Amino acid sequence: MPRLLVVEDDSAVRTTITTFLELEGYEVDAVASSAEALERLRTARYPIIVSDIYLDERTGLDILQAARQMDPRCAVILMTARGTMETVMKATEGGVFDYLAKPFELDRMLETIKRAEAALAEAERGEASEPEELPETEMIGSSAPMVELYKTISRVAPTDATVLIEGETGTGKELVARLIHRNSKRAGQPFVPVDCGAIAPTLLESELFGALKGSYTGADRDRVGVLEAAHRGTVFLDEIGDIELGFQLKLLRFLQERQVRPLGSARAREVDVRVLAATNRDVQRLVDEGKFRQDLWFRLNVVRIKVPPLRERFGDVRLLAAFFLRRYNERYGQQARLLESGLGVMEQYRWPGNVRQLQHMMERLVILAPAGRIDAEAVREAIRAMESREQVSESLADTEAEQIRRVLAATKGNKSHAAKILGIERKTLYRKLERLGMI
Ligand SMILES: Nc1ncnc2c1ncn2[C@@H]1O[C@H](COP(=O)(O)OP(=O)(O)OP(=O)(O)O)[C@@H](O)[C@H]1O
Ligand SMILES: [Mg+2]
Repeated sequence: MPRLLVVEDDSAVRTTITTFLELEGYEVDAVASSAEALERLRTARYPIIVSDIYLDERTGLDILQAARQMDPRCAVILMTARGTMETVMKATEGGVFDYLAKPFELDRMLETIKRAEAALAEAERGEASEPEELPETEMIGSSAPMVELYKTISRVAPTDATVLIEGETGTGKELVARLIHRNSKRAGQPFVPVDCGAIAPTLLESELFGALKGSYTGADRDRVGVLEAAHRGTVFLDEIGDIELGFQLKLLRFLQERQVRPLGSARAREVDVRVLAATNRDVQRLVDEGKFRQDLWFRLNVVRIKVPPLRERFGDVRLLAAFFLRRYNERYGQQARLLESGLGVMEQYRWPGNVRQLQHMMERLVILAPAGRIDAEAVREAIRAMESREQVSESLADTEAEQIRRVLAATKGNKSHAAKILGIERKTLYRKLERLGMI
């Protein structure tokens, strides 16, 4: 076990931490001031340091800097009861391993130290270790919340229950819906997704229920509705929170009666479909605000599945990154390698766009990483680019043109795909191409 240095000026806290860690089997050197800490760093090597931030004339950030200067691989864990945006930013820039807000559970500190140990072991090997075997599956993730999710999917899939899938954007709601269908007795029948948010409210009814020729302006032929087309299969109503109040009643009736009557038709037909729905909105709130019918909500909400955001799935970033790395290396004929330092940055990131964002980022990194090395700087650059979207400073203009060229080459000139990889809107890409004289 590595030797730990604990820096904490509060003697009670220092003793608690030290005793706890010693009971866990670590050899601990504990000091009370920054001066003592720096003295220790000069004489001994500590792969892991746990330090308070507010100490004396110097802070934990100084300890961090000194420690990383002497040994760039040293894992420094900072703790404070007075964390601010600025200190966290500085700590992150200084290469902190993790940041614990006090009060914290000792077990949490231990877990962080264990992670640091694991990271150190890997750093010895340089390249981010690929998980031994990527399982043959399309839904990647072994974290506890994902295992719970798999359990729920396996329980509800064989039933005909209506399922409501909730989760932030990009968490994999549609993937969950497809898995439910694939594992149901309807697997051999159609799975038909409908993006309720993207279809104009006036067209949603004919899209779902169908319409006879002439039933509305523009209906120049009979149209079979999705619900009928999916007979014996599964319909996936995506973005259900976006359905207009007026249409909600019709949908409710359908869920109760399982009959469709195309627009302009007098006859209703029975259909046998299973309904899965998804939303990234807080529908309960829409109900409270009177924007979503409570009765429809109850109907949809027979089984509710919540897909957890990526930042709550510890360990999955590594698996997903390896999965997408392999996919895009194959697709683009590259040999990009993900370094432990790059993975470290990914594991610290909050992933507002969840798995989809990680997927796009890996695609981008595979195409753009200099010399195929995806290190911390490359990942930070990709995050910055994806977060800032439009704004590109003048000094970046050169590399930007180069990046655009490489991405366009990789996507064989497909501009919407290229825009996705670059993390910009398609029209922004056109603007840039124009400005760069590339079209
Ligand atoms: N656990 C996972 N393993 C592998 N790929 C995943 C996983 N989760 C999501 N993806 C991939 O990420 C992308 C986004 O997933 P999906 O479209 O299912 O998200 P969503 O929750 O429906 O997002 P939105 O709310 O924006 O519609 C897809 O390409 C999907 O294949
Ligand atoms: Mg979706």
